[in-house]
Amino acid sequence: MRQIKVENVCKSYDGDLILDKLNLEIPSGQFFALLGPSGCGKTTILRLLAGLESVDSGKIYLGTQDITNVPIYKRKINTVFQQYALFPHLSLFDNVSYGLRVKGVNAAKIKDRVYDVLKAVQLLGFENKKIRSLSGGQQQRVALARAIINEPEVLLLDEPLAALDLKLKEQMLVELIDLQDKLKTTFVYVTHDQTEALAVADKMAIMNVKGEIEQIGTPKQIYEFPSSRFVANFVGKTNIVEGVLKQQNGNLEVEVEGLGSFAVFVPQKKGWMIPEKTIFMNIRPEKIYISKKEIPNFSNHLTGKVIDIIYHGLSTQYNVELRTGRIIKVFEQNEEHFPQEDIDYNDKVNLYFQKENVVLLER
Ligand SMILES: Nc1ncnc2c1ncn2[C@@H]1O[C@H](COP(=O)(O)OP(=O)(O)OP(=O)(O)O)[C@@H](O)[C@H]1O
Ligand SMILES: [Mg+2]
Repeated sequence: MRQIKVENVCKSYDGDLILDKLNLEIPSGQFFALLGPSGCGKTTILRLLAGLESVDSGKIYLGTQDITNVPIYKRKINTVFQQYALFPHLSLFDNVSYGLRVKGVNAAKIKDRVYDVLKAVQLLGFENKKIRSLSGGQQQRVALARAIINEPEVLLLDEPLAALDLKLKEQMLVELIDLQDKLKTTFVYVTHDQTEALAVADKMAIMNVKGEIEQIGTPKQIYEFPSSRFVANFVGKTNIVEGVLKQQNGNLEVEVEGLGSFAVFVPQKKGWMIPEKTIFMNIRPEKIYISKKEIPNFSNHLTGKVIDIIYHGLSTQYNVELRTGRIIKVFEQNEEHFPQEDIDYNDKVNLYFQKENVVLLER
C-alpha cells in the first residue's frame, strides 16, 4: 500500500487558477475525506489523481512512483462519481464485469470476481436485474462494485451519496465504512457535507474557497481544535467572539468589548498568542450551559435574553442575545435523566462555560 502525495500542484481552467501550489498527503489504507465549499476544487483534485485531467505544474506520487504523467488506465486508481454512469440497458452482472471483460479476463474468473464484489456490496441475487429496475441506493452499490472489481489501490469517491435520501445515505455511509475496513483500499471521499465527512473519515482535509488546505486531522481534532475561523465555522455550528488577549497574574484572559474578561486555557501556546493581540474565541454551542439559576464553579459567565428556541429532537437550540446585541447559540441535550428547567422566550438567562472549552483562533 502506498500513500498519495500531491506536491506543489497548480491547475487552472481558462486562465483561472483553481489550485495554487497544492500540497497534500493522503495516507494509505485509510478513509480520507476532502471537505470544502462548492467550487473550491475538490472534483478537480480527484480528476488529477485519477488522471482525467493533467497538472499545469507540480507532481503527484503514489508511494515513490511519480504518476504525474502516467495515463489513466495504467493508474491503479478508480473513481465513483456522483452520477453513477452505469449502462442502463445492461444487467447488473454486465455492468460490474465490464472492466474485466475489456481486459480479456476469462469467463470463469470474471464470474468468481463478480460474485465476490456483489457479496461485498450486498447485491448477491440481483445480478440479472436491469439497472433501470434498481433503486438509487442499489445503483450506487453497483457503481461501487464496478469500481472495486479491478482491485484498485485507491478508490476516489466524488459525492457518491448526494442523490440519496437521508435514511439511505446514512445506511450507505455505514456500508462504505465497513467496505473500506474489509478491502483496506485507500478511500478518498469528497463531500461538501460536514456531517458526512465527520462520520466516515479516519482523517480529513478542509479546503477553503480559494482551493487551499486549511487543516488536516482526525474528525475529532478538526471539530474540537479547529485551526482557523474558517474551519470552526465550516465544520459544525459555533460561536466566534473577538477579543484582546491579556495576561493577568500569569493567567490568560480575553477581554471583549462591552462584555468584560473571560478566562481561557491554552494547552499549547502558539507563536501568535501574545498579550494585547486581537484574537477570536471559539466556543461550541454544546459547551455552554444555560440556566436561569446562578451556578458557581464555572470559569466564565454571561447573561442575556432568549430570543429563539429551536427544537432539533435530540437537542434544543437557544439563541441568546447579550447586552451588546451579540447572539450566542447554545445547545442543550433533550434528556430525561435530570429534570430540565423551563426556559421561554424573553427569559433572562445565565450562560456558563469553562475555560478549557474555549479554543483560541488567530484573527
Ligand atoms: N472543465 C472545466 N472548465 C472550466 N472550469 C472548470 C472546469 N471544471 C471545473 N471548473 C471550475 O473550477 C472550479 C473548481 O471546480 P470543482 O468542480 O473542482 O469544484 P468542487 O469543489 O468539486 O465543487 P462542488 O462541491 O460544487 O462539486 C470551479 O470554479 C469550476 O467552475
Ligand atoms: Mg465537485
